[in-house]
Amino acid sequence: ERKITIAIDGFSSTGKSTVAKELARYLGYIYVDTGAMYRAVSLYALQQKIIGKDHFEVARLIEELPNITLQFQYNEKLGFAEMHLNGVNVEKEIRTLEVSGYVSRVAEISEVRAKLVQQQQEMGKNKGIVMDGRDIGTVVFPDAELKLFMTASPATRAQRRFDELTAKGDAVHYDEVLENVIQRDHIDTNRKDSPLVKAEDAIEIDNSYLTREEQFDAVLELVSEFT
Ligand code: C5P
Repeated sequence: ERKITIAIDGFSSTGKSTVAKELARYLGYIYVDTGAMYRAVSLYALQQKIIGKDHFEVARLIEELPNITLQFQYNEKLGFAEMHLNGVNVEKEIRTLEVSGYVSRVAEISEVRAKLVQQQQEMGKNKGIVMDGRDIGTVVFPDAELKLFMTASPATRAQRRFDELTAKGDAVHYDEVLENVIQRDHIDTNRKDSPLVKAEDAIEIDNSYLTREEQFDAVLELVSEFT
């Protein structure tokens, strides 16, 4: 059976990872959440006090990049891979609103992007991969057979992210979650290096009013054209 590359891009909390995970499980493909990689670099910078409330030392972060090792380790119980930063499982720590507050600024740095994009391309060199992010169809795998671009209204997205965080016991306010979603979209769309944009040949899916099942069926139909 022919293996393909599936690139899924879109704004924050559009349900990219939900579709990507379901697809990967169904097809027996590898799933890579590239947002987790940018989040882990941001967590490292926070831990090392390279970034913080009133400082953001870009040059120091670039210098430290060789000391940052990222690895996805498959968790059989969960059915997906978890992010390890320098050998430590940081899956929980990278999903906080604090990390979300810095990650888009870290992702603006070209040196950070170059390092992560190279690793992403390496992971996908044998195809049979579903990767989600912001620049997968445009920069990481411009030749991907199937490119999806997910959208949903900001309110729908903020509600989803709020529900996720609350379910994990994070005491957050809906307004700060909404503000973070809007702010990240703004930075991600306007940055110089690899801005978030729909690839010309990507198929747009607005899932504001789609159930999980409806969305999955629609995507599977698209996949079946290639495999
Ligand atoms: O996907 P997630 O919301 O976890 O991504 C967090 C942030 O990482 C994004 O808002 C964006 O700034 C950055 N990112 C990126 N390129 C990717 C994936 C994520 O710039 N391919």
